[in-house]
Amino acid sequence: MNPIHYAIQDWHQVPAELDWLTPVEQRRADGFRFEKRRRDWLLGRWTAKIALLGITGLSHRNIARIEIASAPDGAPQPVLDGERCGVEVSLSHSNKRAFATVSQGTGALGCDIELVEPRSPAFIETYFTAAEAERIQRVGPGDRDTLVTMIWSAKESTLKALRTGLQADTRSVEVIDDGVIRDSGWNTARTTAARAGAFSCLWRRDGQFVLSFVTRAPIETPRSVTGAVGIGQPLRDPVYRQIDSSGACRKSKLPFPNFPG
Ligand SMILES: CC(C)(COP(=O)(O)OP(=O)(O)OC[C@H]1O[C@@H](n2cnc3c(N)ncnc32)[C@H](O)[C@@H]1OP(=O)(O)O)[C@@H](O)C(=O)NCCC(=O)NCCS
Repeated sequence: MNPIHYAIQDWHQVPAELDWLTPVEQRRADGFRFEKRRRDWLLGRWTAKIALLGITGLSHRNIARIEIASAPDGAPQPVLDGERCGVEVSLSHSNKRAFATVSQGTGALGCDIELVEPRSPAFIETYFTAAEAERIQRVGPGDRDTLVTMIWSAKESTLKALRTGLQADTRSVEVIDDGVIRDSGWNTARTTAARAGAFSCLWRRDGQFVLSFVTRAPIETPRSVTGAVGIGQPLRDPVYRQIDSSGACRKSKLPFPNFPG
Protein backbone atom coordinates (compact mmCIF):
# COMPACT_ATOMS: atom_id res chain seq x y z
CA MET A 1 0.00 0.00 0.00
CA ASN A 2 1.17 3.55 -0.65
CA PRO A 3 1.28 6.00 2.23
CA ILE A 4 -0.91 9.07 2.34
CA HIS A 5 0.61 12.16 3.94
CA TYR A 6 -1.62 14.89 5.23
CA ALA A 7 -1.35 18.30 6.86
CA ILE A 8 -3.82 20.43 8.79
CA GLN A 9 -3.07 24.12 9.16
CA ASP A 10 -4.89 27.15 10.53
CA TRP A 11 -4.81 30.60 9.01
CA HIS A 12 -2.67 31.98 11.85
CA GLN A 13 0.07 29.46 10.92
CA VAL A 14 0.50 30.86 7.42
CA PRO A 15 3.63 33.06 7.31
CA ALA A 16 2.74 36.67 6.52
CA GLU A 17 5.88 37.02 4.40
CA LEU A 18 4.89 35.33 1.13
CA ASP A 19 8.39 34.22 0.15
CA TRP A 20 7.19 30.60 0.39
CA LEU A 21 5.22 31.13 -2.85
CA THR A 22 6.74 30.72 -6.31
CA PRO A 23 6.76 33.86 -8.52
CA VAL A 24 3.78 32.45 -10.44
CA GLU A 25 1.88 31.92 -7.18
CA GLN A 26 2.78 35.41 -5.95
CA ARG A 27 1.23 36.91 -9.09
CA ARG A 28 -1.87 34.79 -8.59
CA ALA A 29 -2.12 35.86 -4.94
CA ASP A 30 -2.02 39.50 -6.02
CA GLY A 31 -4.90 38.93 -8.45
CA PHE A 32 -7.74 37.95 -6.12
CA ARG A 33 -10.59 40.44 -5.89
CA PHE A 34 -11.98 39.09 -2.63
CA GLU A 35 -9.84 38.89 0.50
CA LYS A 36 -11.59 35.77 1.84
CA ARG A 37 -10.89 33.89 -1.39
CA ARG A 38 -7.26 35.04 -1.31
CA ARG A 39 -6.88 33.83 2.27
CA ASP A 40 -8.49 30.46 1.52
CA TRP A 41 -6.27 30.07 -1.53
CA LEU A 42 -3.11 30.95 0.44
CA LEU A 43 -4.06 28.67 3.34
CA GLY A 44 -4.72 25.80 0.92
CA ARG A 45 -1.37 26.34 -0.85
CA TRP A 46 0.52 26.52 2.44
CA THR A 47 -1.10 23.38 3.79
CA ALA A 48 -0.60 21.39 0.57
CA LYS A 49 3.06 22.40 0.52
CA ILE A 50 3.52 21.20 4.12
CA ALA A 51 2.01 17.83 3.15
CA LEU A 52 4.25 17.69 0.06
CA LEU A 53 7.34 18.25 2.22
CA GLY A 54 6.30 15.12 4.08
CA ILE A 55 5.99 12.88 1.04
CA THR A 56 9.09 14.23 -0.69
CA GLY A 57 11.32 14.37 2.37
CA LEU A 58 12.32 17.91 1.40
CA SER A 59 13.06 20.31 4.27
CA HIS A 60 11.11 23.51 4.80
CA ARG A 61 13.77 25.66 3.20
CA ASN A 62 12.72 24.13 -0.15
CA ILE A 63 9.10 25.19 0.15
CA ALA A 64 9.31 27.90 -2.55
CA ARG A 65 10.47 25.26 -5.05
CA ILE A 66 7.02 23.72 -4.82
CA GLU A 67 4.11 25.23 -6.71
CA ILE A 68 0.50 24.16 -6.29
CA ALA A 69 -0.83 24.98 -9.73
CA SER A 70 -4.48 24.57 -10.73
CA ALA A 71 -5.73 22.33 -13.53
CA PRO A 72 -8.40 23.81 -15.84
CA ASP A 73 -11.08 22.07 -13.75
CA GLY A 74 -9.74 23.67 -10.57
CA ALA A 75 -8.00 20.59 -9.12
CA PRO A 76 -4.58 21.22 -7.53
CA GLN A 77 -1.52 20.17 -9.54
CA PRO A 78 1.85 19.98 -7.77
CA VAL A 79 4.92 21.27 -9.56
CA LEU A 80 8.54 21.06 -8.35
CA ASP A 81 11.15 23.34 -9.95
CA GLY A 82 8.74 23.96 -12.82
CA GLU A 83 8.12 20.25 -13.55
CA ARG A 84 4.92 18.35 -12.78
CA CYS A 85 5.37 15.98 -9.80
CA GLY A 86 4.21 12.40 -10.00
CA VAL A 87 2.08 12.69 -6.87
CA GLU A 88 -1.60 13.32 -6.27
CA VAL A 89 -2.71 16.26 -4.16
CA SER A 90 -6.12 17.21 -2.85
CA LEU A 91 -6.93 20.14 -0.58
CA SER A 92 -9.85 21.72 1.21
CA HIS A 93 -10.45 24.78 3.38
CA SER A 94 -13.18 25.63 5.84
CA ASN A 95 -13.50 28.34 8.47
CA LYS A 96 -9.81 29.35 8.44
CA ARG A 97 -8.56 25.76 8.62
CA ALA A 98 -7.23 23.69 5.73
CA PHE A 99 -6.64 19.99 5.18
CA ALA A 100 -4.40 18.68 2.41
CA THR A 101 -3.57 15.12 1.39
CA VAL A 102 -0.78 13.87 -0.84
CA SER A 103 -0.19 10.38 -2.18
CA GLN A 104 2.03 8.65 -4.66
CA GLY A 105 0.69 5.84 -6.81
CA THR A 106 -2.80 5.63 -5.33
CA GLY A 107 -4.51 7.07 -8.39
CA ALA A 108 -7.50 9.29 -7.73
CA LEU A 109 -7.34 11.17 -4.41
CA GLY A 110 -9.89 13.52 -2.90
CA CYS A 111 -10.11 15.17 0.52
CA ASP A 112 -12.41 17.50 2.38
CA ILE A 113 -12.74 19.37 5.68
CA GLU A 114 -16.12 20.45 6.99
CA LEU A 115 -17.27 22.25 10.11
CA VAL A 116 -19.64 20.03 12.11
CA GLU A 117 -22.95 21.86 12.39
CA PRO A 118 -26.62 20.90 12.47
CA ARG A 119 -28.13 20.28 9.03
CA SER A 120 -31.85 20.17 8.35
CA PRO A 121 -33.97 17.22 7.23
CA ALA A 122 -34.46 19.13 3.95
CA PHE A 123 -30.69 19.12 3.41
CA ILE A 124 -30.58 15.35 3.88
CA GLU A 125 -33.59 14.82 1.61
CA THR A 126 -32.08 16.99 -1.13
CA TYR A 127 -28.50 15.80 -1.15
CA PHE A 128 -28.40 12.31 0.39
CA THR A 129 -29.50 8.90 -0.89
CA ALA A 130 -32.35 6.95 0.72
CA ALA A 131 -29.84 4.52 2.29
CA GLU A 132 -27.85 7.42 3.79
CA ALA A 133 -31.03 8.99 5.19
CA GLU A 134 -31.99 5.65 6.70
CA ARG A 135 -28.53 5.30 8.30
CA ILE A 136 -28.92 8.74 9.89
CA GLN A 137 -32.28 7.69 11.33
CA ARG A 138 -30.50 4.90 13.23
CA VAL A 139 -27.69 6.95 14.80
CA GLY A 140 -27.95 8.33 18.35
CA PRO A 141 -28.67 12.07 18.70
CA GLY A 142 -25.14 12.74 20.03
CA ASP A 143 -23.58 11.44 16.81
CA ARG A 144 -26.10 12.77 14.28
CA ASP A 145 -24.32 16.00 13.30
CA THR A 146 -20.98 14.20 13.03
CA LEU A 147 -22.44 11.47 10.81
CA VAL A 148 -24.31 13.91 8.54
CA THR A 149 -21.18 16.04 8.18
CA MET A 150 -19.07 12.95 7.48
CA ILE A 151 -21.42 11.75 4.75
CA TRP A 152 -21.41 15.17 3.11
CA SER A 153 -17.63 15.41 3.41
CA ALA A 154 -17.02 11.93 1.97
CA LYS A 155 -19.27 12.82 -0.99
CA GLU A 156 -17.19 15.95 -1.63
CA SER A 157 -13.96 13.97 -1.30
CA THR A 158 -15.24 11.43 -3.82
CA LEU A 159 -16.42 14.11 -6.26
CA LYS A 160 -12.99 15.73 -6.02
CA ALA A 161 -11.29 12.38 -6.68
CA LEU A 162 -13.51 12.09 -9.76
CA ARG A 163 -12.63 15.71 -10.66
CA THR A 164 -16.30 16.61 -11.22
CA GLY A 165 -16.87 18.51 -7.98
CA LEU A 166 -20.41 19.54 -7.11
CA GLN A 167 -21.35 19.78 -10.78
CA ALA A 168 -22.36 16.13 -10.27
CA ASP A 169 -25.47 15.09 -8.34
CA THR A 170 -24.38 14.40 -4.74
CA ARG A 171 -26.79 11.43 -4.75
CA SER A 172 -24.69 9.80 -7.46
CA VAL A 173 -22.21 9.03 -4.66
CA GLU A 174 -23.26 6.79 -1.78
CA VAL A 175 -21.34 6.76 1.48
CA ILE A 176 -21.35 3.59 3.59
CA ASP A 177 -19.71 3.92 6.99
CA ASP A 178 -18.61 0.91 9.06
CA GLY A 179 -21.13 1.66 11.82
CA VAL A 180 -18.54 2.81 14.38
CA ILE A 181 -18.03 6.50 15.18
CA ARG A 182 -14.90 7.02 17.29
CA ASP A 183 -14.29 10.31 19.10
CA SER A 184 -10.63 10.20 18.05
CA GLY A 185 -8.61 8.39 15.44
CA TRP A 186 -9.57 7.40 11.94
CA ASN A 187 -12.84 5.69 11.04
CA THR A 188 -13.23 3.62 7.90
CA ALA A 189 -15.94 3.92 5.27
CA ARG A 190 -16.34 3.36 1.55
CA THR A 191 -18.04 5.31 -1.16
CA THR A 192 -19.52 4.18 -4.44
CA ALA A 193 -19.99 6.50 -7.38
CA ALA A 194 -22.46 5.83 -10.17
CA ARG A 195 -20.61 4.44 -13.21
CA ALA A 196 -17.27 5.14 -11.46
CA GLY A 197 -16.99 2.35 -8.90
CA ALA A 198 -15.82 2.19 -5.31
CA PHE A 199 -13.41 4.20 -3.18
CA SER A 200 -11.82 3.55 0.21
CA CYS A 201 -12.50 6.33 2.69
CA LEU A 202 -10.98 7.34 6.02
CA TRP A 203 -12.54 10.05 8.15
CA ARG A 204 -12.15 11.49 11.63
CA ARG A 205 -13.28 14.24 13.98
CA ASP A 206 -10.73 17.03 14.38
CA GLY A 207 -12.12 19.35 17.04
CA GLN A 208 -15.17 21.05 15.53
CA PHE A 209 -14.33 19.67 12.09
CA VAL A 210 -14.66 16.42 10.17
CA LEU A 211 -11.83 15.40 7.84
CA SER A 212 -12.28 12.80 5.11
CA PHE A 213 -10.34 11.50 2.17
CA VAL A 214 -10.81 8.81 -0.44
CA THR A 215 -8.59 6.86 -2.80
CA ARG A 216 -9.08 3.97 -5.16
CA ALA A 217 -6.45 1.85 -3.41
CA PRO A 218 -6.88 0.48 0.10
CA ILE A 219 -5.67 3.11 2.56
CA GLU A 220 -3.07 2.49 5.22
CA THR A 221 -2.92 4.69 8.31
CA PRO A 222 -2.11 8.18 6.99
CA ARG A 223 0.93 10.09 8.13
CA SER A 224 0.53 13.54 9.59
CA VAL A 225 3.07 16.19 8.64
CA THR A 226 3.25 19.19 10.95
CA GLY A 227 5.35 22.29 10.72
CA ALA A 228 5.99 24.17 13.97
CA VAL A 229 5.79 27.46 12.14
CA GLY A 230 4.06 30.74 12.71
CA ILE A 231 3.87 34.15 11.13
CA GLY A 232 7.30 35.67 10.86
CA GLN A 233 9.01 32.78 12.59
CA PRO A 234 11.81 30.81 10.94
CA LEU A 235 10.68 27.64 9.22
CA ARG A 236 11.81 24.45 10.88
CA ASP A 237 12.09 20.99 9.45
CA PRO A 238 8.83 19.07 9.50
CA VAL A 239 7.94 16.60 12.23
CA TYR A 240 6.34 13.39 11.00
CA ARG A 241 3.77 11.68 13.13
CA GLN A 242 2.15 8.38 12.45
CA ILE A 243 -1.25 7.96 14.03
CA ASP A 244 -2.54 4.43 14.30
CA SER A 245 -6.17 3.41 14.18
CA SER A 246 -6.55 3.80 17.97
CA GLY A 247 -5.44 7.42 17.71
CA ALA A 248 -2.03 6.76 19.33
CA CYS A 249 0.75 8.86 17.88
CA ARG A 250 4.43 8.14 17.37
CA LYS A 251 7.07 10.35 15.82
CA SER A 252 9.08 9.15 12.86
CA LYS A 253 11.29 10.27 10.00
CA LEU A 254 9.87 9.19 6.68
CA PRO A 255 11.97 10.59 3.85
CA PHE A 256 11.12 9.59 0.30
CA PRO A 257 14.60 8.90 -1.09
CA ASN A 258 13.34 8.39 -4.64
CA PHE A 259 12.16 11.98 -4.87
CA PRO A 260 14.39 14.71 -6.34
CA GLY A 261 15.96 16.68 -3.50
C1 LIG B 1 -14.55 21.27 -6.11
C2 LIG B 1 -15.60 21.73 -5.11
C3 LIG B 1 -16.45 20.54 -4.72
C4 LIG B 1 -14.85 22.27 -3.87
O1 LIG B 1 -15.71 22.36 -2.78
P1 LIG B 1 -15.75 23.60 -1.78
O2 LIG B 1 -16.56 23.18 -0.61
O3 LIG B 1 -16.14 24.80 -2.52
O4 LIG B 1 -14.28 23.89 -1.34
P2 LIG B 1 -13.12 23.05 -0.63
O5 LIG B 1 -12.41 24.03 0.21
O6 LIG B 1 -13.57 21.79 0.02
O7 LIG B 1 -12.19 22.62 -1.85
C5 LIG B 1 -11.64 23.61 -2.66
C6 LIG B 1 -10.49 23.01 -3.40
O8 LIG B 1 -10.92 21.91 -4.20
C7 LIG B 1 -10.01 21.80 -5.28
N1 LIG B 1 -10.78 21.62 -6.49
C8 LIG B 1 -11.44 22.55 -7.20
N2 LIG B 1 -12.02 21.98 -8.27
C9 LIG B 1 -11.70 20.67 -8.24
C10 LIG B 1 -11.99 19.57 -9.09
N3 LIG B 1 -12.72 19.70 -10.19
N4 LIG B 1 -11.50 18.37 -8.77
C11 LIG B 1 -10.75 18.19 -7.66
N5 LIG B 1 -10.44 19.21 -6.80
C12 LIG B 1 -10.92 20.42 -7.11
C13 LIG B 1 -9.16 23.09 -5.31
O9 LIG B 1 -7.88 22.79 -4.83
C14 LIG B 1 -9.91 23.98 -4.37
O10 LIG B 1 -9.10 24.88 -3.65
P3 LIG B 1 -8.33 26.09 -4.38
O11 LIG B 1 -9.27 26.63 -5.41
O12 LIG B 1 -7.99 27.04 -3.29
O13 LIG B 1 -7.11 25.45 -5.03
C15 LIG B 1 -16.48 22.86 -5.65
O14 LIG B 1 -15.69 24.03 -5.82
C16 LIG B 1 -17.10 22.50 -6.97
O15 LIG B 1 -17.97 21.68 -7.06
N6 LIG B 1 -16.72 23.08 -8.06
C17 LIG B 1 -17.36 22.69 -9.31
C18 LIG B 1 -16.34 22.44 -10.31
C19 LIG B 1 -16.11 23.73 -11.04
O16 LIG B 1 -16.91 24.60 -11.03
N7 LIG B 1 -14.95 23.77 -11.66
C20 LIG B 1 -14.60 24.92 -12.41
C21 LIG B 1 -13.40 25.56 -11.75
S1 LIG B 1 -12.63 26.67 -12.87
